[in-house]
Amino acid sequence: MTRPASPPVVVVGAGVAGLSVALSAAPREVILLDPGEAGSSRLAQGGIAAALAAGDSVRAHVADTLQAGAFHNDEALAWSVLGAAPDAVAWLQIMGVAFDRDDRGLQLGREGGHGAHRIVHAGGDRTGERVVAALQGRAVRAGHVEWRTGVQVDGLLLRGRNVAGVQVRSADGRVETIEAGAVVLATGGLGALFQRTTNTGTTSGSGLALAMAAGARTRDLEFVQFHPTAFDGVGDGDGARLPLITEALRGAGARLIDHRSRSLMRGHHPLGDLAPRDVVSRRVWDARRDGPVWVDATGLRSGWERAFPTVVETCRARGVDPYTQPIPITAAAHFHMGGIATDPLGRTSLPNLHAVGEVTCNGLHGANRLASNSLLEAVVCGRWLGAHLRLAPSRTSRDAFRAVALGDGLEAGALAALRRRLWDAAGPVRTRAALSAAVREMKAMAASGWQARVAHAVLQAALLRPASLGAHWRADA
Ligand code: SIN
Repeated sequence: MTRPASPPVVVVGAGVAGLSVALSAAPREVILLDPGEAGSSRLAQGGIAAALAAGDSVRAHVADTLQAGAFHNDEALAWSVLGAAPDAVAWLQIMGVAFDRDDRGLQLGREGGHGAHRIVHAGGDRTGERVVAALQGRAVRAGHVEWRTGVQVDGLLLRGRNVAGVQVRSADGRVETIEAGAVVLATGGLGALFQRTTNTGTTSGSGLALAMAAGARTRDLEFVQFHPTAFDGVGDGDGARLPLITEALRGAGARLIDHRSRSLMRGHHPLGDLAPRDVVSRRVWDARRDGPVWVDATGLRSGWERAFPTVVETCRARGVDPYTQPIPITAAAHFHMGGIATDPLGRTSLPNLHAVGEVTCNGLHGANRLASNSLLEAVVCGRWLGAHLRLAPSRTSRDAFRAVALGDGLEAGALAALRRRLWDAAGPVRTRAALSAAVREMKAMAASGWQARVAHAVLQAALLRPASLGAHWRADA
């Protein structure tokens, strides 16, 4: 076989972050490895935050991001990423995303923690689906991208500490190695390791596990965001994804109410129903001890459903008429602020290993992400990383490499037990006693599957932070 002159970039993951890297790396050759199962990008409902309204500013967007993140953020990075938001929105339009407009221009919604209307959206609450479809369409046609679908990455190739490629398993069980000039992990977060989650089963920390196995540095693993309004469905939850009831619905005027139809948030935060997610999630967690909690959209002006087709579909499919009935909700694991430690260009502590999107921690989100800053990060940092890789010199070597494999995953029963354990011990409210017990349990399970090693790392980080901060809430602090 002839060796290519310049080894390709291998991008693992075909969500918004991976696609933005792949498209921006042109003309460098990219192999895009798509597991073929929907990840979190496609499910994103709210939209993309950008200071575009008259009277809004990057300064105000940064201030809201730092406030939501409990000032644990990298402020300089926040200025850079949020400052690039208007350009990211323009790029997505060039890529073919038709954001919703009215006669004044782009429609701007509002979500929790934002002091202004600054959320651009597409197809109402189908933003993620529309952005993924547009970028995929481009990537499929791009001459420099080789798209391989149905491929699971189960190992990294290393020459010394240098990452030199990936080991993959195709749907028919065939194992293959792919050498690369650079590897980019864009595999998403780990919400599916929690019993209650808005994420699909694939979003269970495999990229983080791969990086940990290879010895890459991680950061802030204890910070997991719980979304306050996942649909609380009978039979949902035990490993199954709970559908999201987007925060944008509250931005349009829907209210959170308790089992006696009283406002849940009045008197608890100046932003009321639009308080940051960590605050609302804890309130939902507390109130559910007394009875069910709802999002009430029955008072909205008629026509609201045009902006929320996914919400209406979700409710109706589960026997709830959102025009006349309140929607039952629960908090659920939604987004991982922690992850593989990277710099703004997605460089990890291992040469030639990069990461982008939810799998990383670059400090943008601090201890609690501001709504609709995640697709934004995926696009902005994905484009930065793609442009960097386009220009980065590639090193070739004929030295032998070794494979660092992910290893076995847990069998179904053990995985279900892990999810319950993680939810109980490391959910919206945490205590030292529960965390310590869960750490011991995960340590004992660590040899049986990589998910237990990831869970152990999250629990250990949570145990080591005795004070509450952002989404990490210690009831015993
Ligand atoms: C939502 O629409 O409520 C979620 C959006 C996000 O995670 O930022």
